[in-house]
Amino acid sequence: MLLTLPEVLTREEVLRARDQLARAGWSDGRITAGHQSARVKRNLQLPDHDPIARELGERILAQLESHPLFLSAALPKVVFPPLFNRYTEGMDFGNHVDNAIRQLPGSAHRIRTDLSATLFLSDPEAYSGGQLIVEDTYGVHEVKLTAGSMVLYPSSSLHRVAPVTEGERLASFFWIQSMVRSDEQRTLLFDLDQSIQRVREGDPDHPSLVQLTACYHNLLRMWSEP
Ligand code: NI
Repeated sequence: MLLTLPEVLTREEVLRARDQLARAGWSDGRITAGHQSARVKRNLQLPDHDPIARELGERILAQLESHPLFLSAALPKVVFPPLFNRYTEGMDFGNHVDNAIRQLPGSAHRIRTDLSATLFLSDPEAYSGGQLIVEDTYGVHEVKLTAGSMVLYPSSSLHRVAPVTEGERLASFFWIQSMVRSDEQRTLLFDLDQSIQRVREGDPDHPSLVQLTACYHNLLRMWSEP
């Protein structure tokens, strides 16, 4: 499932983030790339220990912890501390699949990347090109969102960032290990949860709500590794 989450950051938070990122010390993006993806990666990135990256990352994580759509769709077990990248004119990131296993910075813990996230920080009008292009069994999806919005997609997908031909594209990106490993099962749980919420909005006393909620929790019990 590929899902767009609107307004993860408010306009005010986006402007503050851009202001901080303008003063940050950017490095070659290949610092976090595997051997295969380093060959096609041409962008700039903040080192994971950069104090601006850490502070901004904490703010993004705090927003996600209380974002109902994110929690319902990702069923997060561990969220990787957000990283930040920057593409200026002529930069791109060719086709690749994200590494399956990532070491959490400054720790011995590793996570399995089930979901990949890109949080757009530049206004779409501020750059040409720079779409995130995700390929899955349903075809090719081009994603270019308003600043503050985020896309979630399975980390198993082949994806790329189209060349930026003008302007600058700033984004945050990170990975999530979900309590439910399978995208298919996670999507079913998400659809069920969203349907239950719509029924509840229409009729909070609907006689089927208890049974449907029980089904949701019993499927989660069967499929999750909390
Ligand atoms: Ni990637």
